[in-house]
Amino acid sequence: MTPAPAAAADIDWEALRAVAREAMSHAYAPYSGYPVGVAALVDDGRTVSGCNVENASYGLGLCAECGLVSELQRTGGGRLTHFTCVDGTGAVLVPCGRCRQLLYEFGGPGLLLETPAGVLPLSAMLPQAFGPEHLTP
Ligand code: THU
Repeated sequence: MTPAPAAAADIDWEALRAVAREAMSHAYAPYSGYPVGVAALVDDGRTVSGCNVENASYGLGLCAECGLVSELQRTGGGRLTHFTCVDGTGAVLVPCGRCRQLLYEFGGPGLLLETPAGVLPLSAMLPQAFGPEHLTP
């Protein structure tokens, strides 16, 4: 059985933010000039991260969360339990709407997000989410 995620207060958010900032330093954002980094804890103890990677065809840019969920899956899967996102100054940033959906797939409503308004469950950031459960009869 998968253990319940640690409570928000038991998590070293500063350390997780440092991983996100390091990821942000690798962003490829020449078009927006807006680097983003993300990091998350996985229920087996791993940490995964990502940065945004833009494209000359602007609409094809990849948000940092795309890299994060790709690394999650590539390195063994599992469930995201705690997540943070930072902008180019290292300040905490809210994930965009599309990326909340990506996070929902791999973390569900209980995933804890560090936001400028404090630590919140994804259910508060993406209410009434559409998810895998809607596809099962
Ligand atoms: N961006 C992310 O990487 N994640 C988010 O959650 C917010 C937005 C990126 C996309 C684009 O490369 C840049 O920030 C400006 O929108």
